[in-house]
Amino acid sequence: MEKKKIILDYDPGIDDALALMLALSSPELHICGITTVCGNVPAELGADNVLRVLQFMNRPDIPVYCGAEKPLVRRYISAQDTHGEDGLGESGIPPAEGVSWHSGAVDFILDTLCQTEALTIVALGPLTNLALALRKKQNAFQNLGRLVSMGGNFRSYGNCSPVAEYNYWCDPDAAGEVFANLGKPIHMVGLDVTRKIVLTPNILEYMHVLNPHTADFIRKITRFYCDFHWKQEKMIGCVINDPLAVAYTVDPDICHGFDAYTAVETGGLCMGQSVVDSMNFWHRDPNSHVLTQTDPLAFMTMFVSRVFRKESASVRTVLAKIMAGGAVS
Ligand code: RIB
Ligand code: CA
Repeated sequence: MEKKKIILDYDPGIDDALALMLALSSPELHICGITTVCGNVPAELGADNVLRVLQFMNRPDIPVYCGAEKPLVRRYISAQDTHGEDGLGESGIPPAEGVSWHSGAVDFILDTLCQTEALTIVALGPLTNLALALRKKQNAFQNLGRLVSMGGNFRSYGNCSPVAEYNYWCDPDAAGEVFANLGKPIHMVGLDVTRKIVLTPNILEYMHVLNPHTADFIRKITRFYCDFHWKQEKMIGCVINDPLAVAYTVDPDICHGFDAYTAVETGGLCMGQSVVDSMNFWHRDPNSHVLTQTDPLAFMTMFVSRVFRKESASVRTVLAKIMAGGAVS
């Protein structure tokens, strides 16, 4: 089976870290490199965190490049209130040893696009690096296979304002430029689908049964995030957005949606809103594939069976009972 070559461009970040764990556990994917962007945390801290997760997953071979330290226009506002000052839930994960990251994320993206047929870019943070790359060498993206972006929302409410999702709110100008200029449809894995992916205490308990070492790592980095979810939304558990975009990259059938023209509002009351023209008022050719349905059980089965290296049918049976609210006998 030919592996799908990807670049992960993102802002780790707690759910970003889980997304990397799934990507590293998916044999269908070949990670050409990882680029970080200012978002949940400053890009340099994000790059340090990537190295921490790669060290835990014993994958020091994957190159890491640090990217944009601020949005195109707006003042940079991090999400460290949600992800912790360290970006990994103030978990105290030790720094990686013997490895370091490089600068030049934008050039790495452009060079990889020029050298790789049908590259998939999985963007799990603000789109600043991609907007800068488009500005620098737009024709390099003619080679792009697919852009999968965790970001935006169609009918679901925002998480940074009544209408805006963080990745597009943090840098609305970058999101606007990428949607306007990419020239290929953006697969928008937005809050409409990611809000259905909730990591609950019972799933964490099941993970602990499967492998305490890996479960403890996930529990450590998500504790802070779960506390935030309780304070913010009275939710027990936490929404893990980014891993769904990786799952969709592995298996596009895990989400379904529709094609539409989408624009991103760059200022005013609705700044950062992804405005999806689902009824074609503007008679513009579609520039996005907006995902609106997903199967949480299928996702969680993929995540747990791959990250914990267990046979998926048995994992699915247990998760079905847990996610239905039943005790597992
Ligand atoms: O709105 C959720 C998104 O913003 C996720 O990618 C999260 O990691 C943050 O980047
Ligand atoms: Ca992210």
